[in-house]
Amino acid sequence: NEIYTQGIHGRTPRVPTDHAELERQARRAMSKRAWAYIAGGAGEGTTMSANRAALDRWAIVPRVLRDVSSRSLEIELFGRTLPAPVLFSPVGAGALAAHEADVHIGHAAAELGVPYIFSNQGSAPMERVAAEMDRVASGAPRWFQLYWSTDDDLVDSLLARAEKMGADAVAVTLDTTMLGWRPQDLNLGSLPFARGEGIDQYTSDPRFTEIVAERVRSAAAERPEITLGAIKTLFSIARNAPGKMLDNLRAPEPRAAVQTFLDIYSRPSLNWDDVAGLRDRTSLPIVLKGVLHPDDARQAVDVGVDGIIVSNHGGRQVDGAIGSIDALDAIAPAVDGRIKVLVDSGIHTGADVFKALALGADAACIGRPHMYGLALAGADGARDVVANIIAELDLTLGLSGHTSVGDVNRDAVQRVS
Ligand code: FNR
Repeated sequence: NEIYTQGIHGRTPRVPTDHAELERQARRAMSKRAWAYIAGGAGEGTTMSANRAALDRWAIVPRVLRDVSSRSLEIELFGRTLPAPVLFSPVGAGALAAHEADVHIGHAAAELGVPYIFSNQGSAPMERVAAEMDRVASGAPRWFQLYWSTDDDLVDSLLARAEKMGADAVAVTLDTTMLGWRPQDLNLGSLPFARGEGIDQYTSDPRFTEIVAERVRSAAAERPEITLGAIKTLFSIARNAPGKMLDNLRAPEPRAAVQTFLDIYSRPSLNWDDVAGLRDRTSLPIVLKGVLHPDDARQAVDVGVDGIIVSNHGGRQVDGAIGSIDALDAIAPAVDGRIKVLVDSGIHTGADVFKALALGADAACIGRPHMYGLALAGADGARDVVANIIAELDLTLGLSGHTSVGDVNRDAVQRVS
């Protein structure tokens, strides 16, 4: 309504209301390096195309004359009522797009009242993001996304911090036990984390600090220039002014922190036993992110997690992978409502979210689009992009003859190719 009203007064919206133009403008606003990392995908980009192609295979078949004058987008998720079936996907190394990106995105999500899933590779400590969200709306919904470190104590430390900062759930990302083949970054010789972006969740962690200190102690025996004092200085720089990390990277100490992060952030040996054991380590609802096979979805139900996110990581991990909406189509019947099913990857519009709901998703997460909004207009831009998606979802719901999210089922769509 607001957007149309603005139009009546001849005012243009803060961010473009279609994805193609949003993408074009965001590209102009970002550095080459930021664009490569954020917009890029794995390999030849086939999975990113598959995400869109899968959505295009389904057509909405509207129904008429159904009194859609009052509508609700509300859903229940892990004991909370949310205003819309939409979440902000976790995005790491956001500092490439904006200083303390996560604080701005947290602000945006809190204004909308939809959950923000904090990345384990966030560009601000989770406590800072949570405090900002509470400033906007006390108790605003937030989740924590975990990359399972090779260090179990670090996993426990991150989980304890997540519980303390008020997370409603933990999403364990399973598809990134190693970083995918990302030509855009490789061709630029640019590994984002190498300059310290996205390691603030770590540098603010007491266990991580301990690990680095242990390493420094043993390295210092051979290399006296690496001192514990220098590492501590680095951490305080990282906490107070992450940008300054860049200036200091030539020093051996920052390299020690970044190298430690690269060495321990993820565990390629991760398996179902680890996930089954997670129940004993946290009281939070557990959601597995990156599920694409119906058998994995069934196993997720069997090990007793609370939900899954059907996702191919926005096409950034396996090139040539199945589109997430195609995967959802097979997974939803396999799960059969026993746990929550969320989906992301390639979902750009309200109509896309509607199709996801029709194919059995309880909610959809939005990744790159909110980052583009952030790059264009800070917190307001990130908020407006997601607000626009929700507004279009509301219209699509009504115009297709539905009054609530729960009414939307497979009858609302038809496979057209
Ligand atoms: C991601 N994604 C991601 N996922 C995750 O679990 N932890 C993370 O730290 C990140 N980091 C990250 C950085 C960037 C720049 C992007 C674009 C994505 C994946 C993300 O959560 C989500 O699955 C996809 O972004 C969804 O696809 P779309 O919406 O970007 O097409």
